[in-house]
Amino acid sequence: MRLEGKRAIVTGGASGFGAGIVRKFAAEGATVMVADLNGDLAAQVAAEVGGVAQVVDVSSAASVTAMAEAVSSQWGGVDIIVNNAGVTHLPKPMETVTDEEFDRVFNVNCKSVYLMARTFNPMMIAAGKGAVLNVASTAGLSPRPNLNWYNASKGWMITATKTMAVELAPKGIRVNALCPVAGETPLLASFMGEDTPEMRAKFLSTIPIGRFSTPEDMGNAACFLCSDEAGMVTGVAMEVDGGRCI
Ligand SMILES: NC(=O)c1ccc[n+]([C@@H]2O[C@H](COP(=O)([O-])OP(=O)(O)OC[C@H]3O[C@@H](n4cnc5c(N)ncnc54)[C@H](O)[C@@H]3O)[C@@H](O)[C@H]2O)c1
Repeated sequence: MRLEGKRAIVTGGASGFGAGIVRKFAAEGATVMVADLNGDLAAQVAAEVGGVAQVVDVSSAASVTAMAEAVSSQWGGVDIIVNNAGVTHLPKPMETVTDEEFDRVFNVNCKSVYLMARTFNPMMIAAGKGAVLNVASTAGLSPRPNLNWYNASKGWMITATKTMAVELAPKGIRVNALCPVAGETPLLASFMGEDTPEMRAKFLSTIPIGRFSTPEDMGNAACFLCSDEAGMVTGVAMEVDGGRCI
């Protein structure tokens, strides 16, 4: 019960890595808000773990504010925030990505971190404690071609993590990032462009441990970084990548 008594928000918690993090947090004693654009899936995952579902668009200031009101009225504060919701454009030459695709990636992957910080920092600062985890990617450390604007959004997230860590450390708030390698989630097909055995083999050949990452891998790493066991750990961008970035 490493997260007993903690109140945690996991954005994008209805699917993939987010759902893995929700399940691990709940198993370790946390009360979890499954915060997702997909209300039906969020309700399912929340019901499974005895948590709370919240429909939110993390790229919308009004929607994030509404979530903060729900958190204040139901919990009176929050201990852990996982900024996990993320999207990509399909793999293609960087100059062919449209305005709409670029804006969607930037707003969901980057602007959301700003909106969550400006909305929830005051609650954690008032409490004098908190942990934030940003789900970035190996894409921000060792980028592959044809995913430039997605890769850059994750590099942005890693820099934001480090600045948030130094700025919020004196206020008792730790901020870290996770850098997953390609994982078995619904998003994987979008990174590969096409989900074929050949494309899977190509991706797997770059992961020394020889398998894709899983939602359970992310749940385990997230649990450590957001628990009090990691009390001296802040500002890291931890690869959970089977050796991909070596
Ligand atoms: N799967 C991978 O290979 C991989 C690798 C590295 C990093 N990541 C990152 O991990 C995170 C989770 O990805 P995943 O693979 O689990 O994806 P996923 O598509 O399975 O889940 C993403 C969830 O986010 C939700 N979401 C999307 N836009 C949202 C918005 N505007 N507001 C609220 N919720 C929104 C979706 O409804 C979905 O439930 C993302 O940030 C992704 O960039 C994924």
